[in-house]
Amino acid sequence: MQTRVLTGITTTGTPHLGNYVGAIRPAVEASRRDDVDAFYFMADYHALIKSDDAARIERSRLEIAATWLAAGLDPARVTFYRQSDIPEIPELTWFLTCVASKGMLNRAHAYKAAVDRNVETGEDADAGITAGLYMYPVLMAADILAFDAHKVPVGRDQIQHIEMARDLGQRFNHIHGREFFVLPEALIEEQVATLPGLDGRKMSKSYDNTIPLFEGGKKQLRETIMRIVTDSRLPGEAKDPDNSPLFTIFRAFASEIETAAFRQALLDGIGWGEAKQVLYERIESDVAPMRERYEAFMADPAAIEAILQQGAQKARAIATPKIAALRDALGLRSATSVATTASSPKATPKQGKMPRFASFRDADGNFRFRLFSADGEELLLSMPFADPKAAGALQKRLKTLGAAAAVLQVEASGMTLALDGEPVASTPDYRDDSARNDALAQLREALDQLAAQE
Ligand code: TRP
Repeated sequence: MQTRVLTGITTTGTPHLGNYVGAIRPAVEASRRDDVDAFYFMADYHALIKSDDAARIERSRLEIAATWLAAGLDPARVTFYRQSDIPEIPELTWFLTCVASKGMLNRAHAYKAAVDRNVETGEDADAGITAGLYMYPVLMAADILAFDAHKVPVGRDQIQHIEMARDLGQRFNHIHGREFFVLPEALIEEQVATLPGLDGRKMSKSYDNTIPLFEGGKKQLRETIMRIVTDSRLPGEAKDPDNSPLFTIFRAFASEIETAAFRQALLDGIGWGEAKQVLYERIESDVAPMRERYEAFMADPAAIEAILQQGAQKARAIATPKIAALRDALGLRSATSVATTASSPKATPKQGKMPRFASFRDADGNFRFRLFSADGEELLLSMPFADPKAAGALQKRLKTLGAAAAVLQVEASGMTLALDGEPVASTPDYRDDSARNDALAQLREALDQLAAQE
């Protein structure tokens, strides 16, 4: 089974070398693995919490999309989209808001830090704090839970948010009596370097010590590298590689052999100016081909838009049926389905016109069953079970749950139904989105009919 790996990038800034080494490069590498199903998106709703500068948000969305694509992200392989193109995310945010404990949100680091600053300066505790900042963790939980992500690569500062997402998923599952959501785990990549900036502190926009990735071209790259702080040792004097940001940055781009050679050069007393030139050339050889692709994308926003629209479609193929099942579980159903559950005459269809299970043993001797609609159409095929009792228990559970069981994972062709996080049955393949939606509606109806009969 593939691990679904999901992460969001807040679209407020322009990517720098630290973002590339710490987030973009490892994420692109992970997305190439066969056991990874990657979901990467631009968290532009989150960006609105931090910035009301529309031009900046617009520009950043474009730059970040172009950067990730230029860095080798393959949109055919990865689900790459903008958060704001997925209306299911704000909808789920509300569902989760209604199970979120306010006390938990009071304890979120970013909110608490803002309150602490106010208190320190003698202001009202909530002065200048938006409800957007307060709700930040819930929106982030919706990003993650809408897609049943298993692993969420983030920086350490985000671990608390992932824990809150787990908490919200768990609460919702508990209140509504089944495993609607996979509970995500934070993925902290220990071996990924945190890049130091020009002054040796962590490279970060807030320290104003960043080295641009593409901005300003190679001239800007070289000029900025020349500004990395060094000690005052002269050419010919031995340098201490382990206490130089220059060396740490070099190592993040170079092979082991190159790194060993650079270390030796520093120990042998290479001048800082020359060392910076070596560093620049090493980085430029990685960045140059990406920069070329970046510039091509930036000159063709329509190409980016098309890629992101396709990404949104892929993402919604998963989020839409998921939200439909949640709406149903929450009681947000069509008025006619209320009549069904209220056991009106319509609820007990005529004899002989009921959905039914058909059990059989497959070629391997395992026990399986199919679910057919009242019209005799195949709706589900169960996974094989060695024990016939397990197959029987599953039928029983489907009958008990009714349409709420129909939480489906959309695959390339067909959908998988999971209970407690385990795949238990699959639908036949469908031709297109509309056939898929029909299949889903039929399945829900059949399960509700069975539940009503129980
Ligand atoms: N809050 C994250 C950050 O600042 C960005 C983000 C938004 C995110 N939604 C997410 C990360 C969902 C992972 C999963 O880095």
